[in-house]
Amino acid sequence: MERKKVLLSEDEIPRQWYNVLADIKMNPPLGPDGKPVSPDMLAPVFPMNIIEQEVSSQRWIDIPEEVLGILTIWRPSPLIRATALEKALGTPARIYYKYEGVSPPGSHKPNTAVPQAYYNKKFGIQRLTTETGAGQWGSALAFACSQFGLECKVFMVRISFDQKPYRKTMMQTWGASCVASPSMETKAGRDILAKTPDTPGSLGIAISEAVEAAVSDSSGKTRYSLGSVLNHVMLHQTIIGLEAKKQLEKIGEYPDVVVGCAGGGSNFAGLAFPFVYDKINGKKIDIHPVEPAACPTLTKGPFAYDHGDTAGYTPLLAMHSLGHTFVPPPMHAGGLRYHGMAPTVSQLVVEGLLEPKAYGQMDTFEAGMLLARTEGVIPAPETNHALACVVDLARKAKEEGKQKVILFNWSGHGLIDLGSYEKYLSGQIKDFEFPAKDIEEAEKILQKYPKPQIMKSR
Ligand SMILES: Cc1ncc(COP(=O)(O)O)c(C=O)c1O
Repeated sequence: MERKKVLLSEDEIPRQWYNVLADIKMNPPLGPDGKPVSPDMLAPVFPMNIIEQEVSSQRWIDIPEEVLGILTIWRPSPLIRATALEKALGTPARIYYKYEGVSPPGSHKPNTAVPQAYYNKKFGIQRLTTETGAGQWGSALAFACSQFGLECKVFMVRISFDQKPYRKTMMQTWGASCVASPSMETKAGRDILAKTPDTPGSLGIAISEAVEAAVSDSSGKTRYSLGSVLNHVMLHQTIIGLEAKKQLEKIGEYPDVVVGCAGGGSNFAGLAFPFVYDKINGKKIDIHPVEPAACPTLTKGPFAYDHGDTAGYTPLLAMHSLGHTFVPPPMHAGGLRYHGMAPTVSQLVVEGLLEPKAYGQMDTFEAGMLLARTEGVIPAPETNHALACVVDLARKAKEEGKQKVILFNWSGHGLIDLGSYEKYLSGQIKDFEFPAKDIEEAEKILQKYPKPQIMKSR
């Protein structure tokens, strides 16, 4: 029998996360006065133990035993060789994927939801607020909060709230409450509804609502939790790449190419950063974050200081951005509809260590269908972006007759996203070209903020 899966035992699970901040220089987040934000200024939003992680430049950070105890419900996740896909494409490439769909909510998101809930609980927090796009993050935090006995309130982007009622049911099953964003519960939501009552919502708007709901709770027992973008989130996700490395070592493989889809950057970073570490230390490896052509943050957005949310509550972050007022078209890969990008991922793009790619929706669904019909698992529409790139790379390897080793992150399954597959199958999915004028618009918005330095870490 051909070998398909590479598994690790629970004893082999990594005990430390990799912190890329030890290896790169970054522009600091800025406050409203244009000066670097101090940890104290973030204290109403995050607990201090998470803020310390956010700014830490220690390369290896211990994973608490209590966190490992919950992660082992589904971790270590399997590394699977996509032999059926290789065969269908007739490619000499060897394709491996790290399958993150095995977690209870079905994606990589609980890898950070669990430690975030743990650190909040340890700090004495009783309630977390958050936003969610496709519903994966909201359900991951709902799951994590239920494990630690925390209350959880989720602002879900309106378009996904309407399209994915079962995500809401999942959150409620784990005890969380979930409202459509923009909502009437916050000033940020009310202001947007007054201007654009029919808005499909956006992650930027939902973040504003969740931050406002946390900081305006006078009990001091509520904090906000973010599912992507920030340094500590990328850190927690590196367990994916660290496991993958061990699994590949077991079978004597090392990737030539690493691929992951990128919304705010977390699943991509989780798989890729441990390999970025190797690249910084001399390994030859191509690393691709993949985004939708309809929301091309890394491939078309300027590298600039911008807010992480629409109302401008968050500090200014140095990142690739389409402008914080950008409302992406309501396409189905809800988790990739974000105007910004993780500052760490953005910095690595600036340094030329990553090469971003963008694909149209039709290409991504075609790839998703091919994977479903070969490997069997129905991918999340977000994951389909990584798949479109992998299929391209495998075809190129065939043309060139090269035995490339391709590693990608299967960030989640698509079993709660079947509405979008139904639309694809009935011919209702279309490509959307990002209008050039929107970049001019973004540049105009971003002009009023300080310019980040173009830093080279070496
Ligand atoms: C399955 C899946 N993949 C990818 C993403 C994109 O987020 P990130 O770039 O933080 O991994 C999401 C976000 O909701 C998601 O649900």
